[in-house]
Amino acid sequence: MCGIFGFVSTLERDPEVVLQGLRFLEYRGYDSWGIAVGSNGLVDTDKATGPISDATTNLGRSNIALGHTRWATHGGVTEANAHPHCDCRRRFALIHNGIVENYQDLAGRLGPGHRFLSQTDTEVLVHLLEEEISRQPDLLAALLTVFRQVEGMSAVAVLDAQSGQIALAKNGSPVALGWGEDAIYLASDPSALLEYTHRMTFVEDGQAALLSDSGVVLTDVRTGEIVQPEVRVVTWDTRRAGLDGYAHFMAKEIHEQPAILRHIADRKAQDAAALASLIRDAHDVYLIGCGTAHHAAMSARYLLAEVAGIKSTAAAASEMTLIEPLLDEGSLVVAFSQSGETLDVLEAVRAARQRGAKVAALVNAEGSSLDRFANLTLLLECGVERCVLATKTYTAMVAVMHLVSHLITGDADRGVREVRAAASRVESLLDRETVHGLIKSTARLIVDHQHLFVLGRHRNYPLALEAALKIKEVSYLHAEGFAAGELKHGVIALITNGTPCLILAPDEDYRREALAAAAEVRARGAFTVGFSPRAEAEFDITLPVHGASSAPYEIAGASQLLAYELALLLGCDPDKPRNLAKSVTVK
Ligand code: G6P
Repeated sequence: MCGIFGFVSTLERDPEVVLQGLRFLEYRGYDSWGIAVGSNGLVDTDKATGPISDATTNLGRSNIALGHTRWATHGGVTEANAHPHCDCRRRFALIHNGIVENYQDLAGRLGPGHRFLSQTDTEVLVHLLEEEISRQPDLLAALLTVFRQVEGMSAVAVLDAQSGQIALAKNGSPVALGWGEDAIYLASDPSALLEYTHRMTFVEDGQAALLSDSGVVLTDVRTGEIVQPEVRVVTWDTRRAGLDGYAHFMAKEIHEQPAILRHIADRKAQDAAALASLIRDAHDVYLIGCGTAHHAAMSARYLLAEVAGIKSTAAAASEMTLIEPLLDEGSLVVAFSQSGETLDVLEAVRAARQRGAKVAALVNAEGSSLDRFANLTLLLECGVERCVLATKTYTAMVAVMHLVSHLITGDADRGVREVRAAASRVESLLDRETVHGLIKSTARLIVDHQHLFVLGRHRNYPLALEAALKIKEVSYLHAEGFAAGELKHGVIALITNGTPCLILAPDEDYRREALAAAAEVRARGAFTVGFSPRAEAEFDITLPVHGASSAPYEIAGASQLLAYELALLLGCDPDKPRNLAKSVTVK
């Protein structure tokens, strides 16, 4: 979703710094961009639709600059709708993440004569500020008066070319401040700041800040009282954030999985033990997440039940309303989220805490809202995931819960051994040219079909959902994952001659059922691709996986690679699928 990057500096700096910061946020998903600098008391802007990757700007050097990548909600994808938006006198440039739900009401409160240049819900805010500043000249006080009128979850930042300050306020979307040597930075994603500093202050909901060349003043939005900024040193490693010779981040991140599994096996057991003990002590356990993270939560449910005999409920965070009334002080909600900023997840955990439940989090983004909110955070330590699609973080979430499940039984070594073994198996699967060749030829055989199905039973069911999601997200083919047992209750009506069906059959248990499903679809003309340790008469092609405790990781890796190859064949950009955003911070 929308990205923010800006600075206030004691030195004049090239606005390329902002472009560079915004490029780092590209992976969040956006459709247009814009930057503003202060120049002789007025604002200069540069905006464009489309990618920022190769963009340049003619804006001059400045002590103050603010940029934004927009993911359209109100108003189409046009240059005029790209942020920042300016007041009529071009003193202010304002950017906004979130939705101004009452923007029409607010427009009604404006005096006459304002010239609107966009169709966004945002622009009204900068005109309100223009009026307010004549009543109270203090930038932060004026912004707060405007911000208190806004309904909806938002982060707003405004550059004032006259005073050389940036003011911001938030009650939703994330904003981090970075304490650089000769500049204070702000960004919607702490990872974009790491190039300049590891010392950060996370602006909490209900807080506002004023950035000037003399530092930062942090205040409470409601009372206006000054708050002491808490400076945290973020240790997140972005050294591996480049492409490293891969054509796409998706390919690179898929191939990082063996190393991540080893890291989890070797380094995460202690953190996992803390979660294991929370789960053991809870009288009910809920596993929540969105998208891929939801599928990881579903896999975790099977692991907890099978390995540790623990009953839990897995749910999409957006469906938390069903669970919420059931929660009390004895409940534990485990939230799965790569970004730690997904609004549905944050709302769910806030509701859980209000009912007295404990919140544990599996998060990749250190310093994110979920990381800061949870009673216990387990950082996945996967490095930045730049591809919009989640790959390595899914695997990491499952591996952490694998350790947790064995820790609950008291056999920590077994968990570590199994995750390490999975690392080697995934490595040999990803590195073996023969397997990769087979995946490529499978992609060629199925790419011309509009619909395909992935069938998995029991612990392979969440994997079937996840494999289908990866294919949908990146290739735009219609792929559906189903519980294999449900086949005859509806799905089978969709099978016609040549329909590709991926059958997940890695294990001896449930194998008979998987093969029966394969036979049933094949009898109706389906083209079957088995994920299996050995070829079977029911499969037209077999993608070799070992099975047992390594199966989830091998199936994830192989299906991610298949999705990637399908995207390449169809000319889709694997790193930036259409309409999707990496971090969904709106409803
Ligand atoms: C978006 C992304 C998905 C991701 C989901 C949850 O929809 O496109 O890839 O799985 O958000 O994100 P989270 O950061 O909470 O894991």
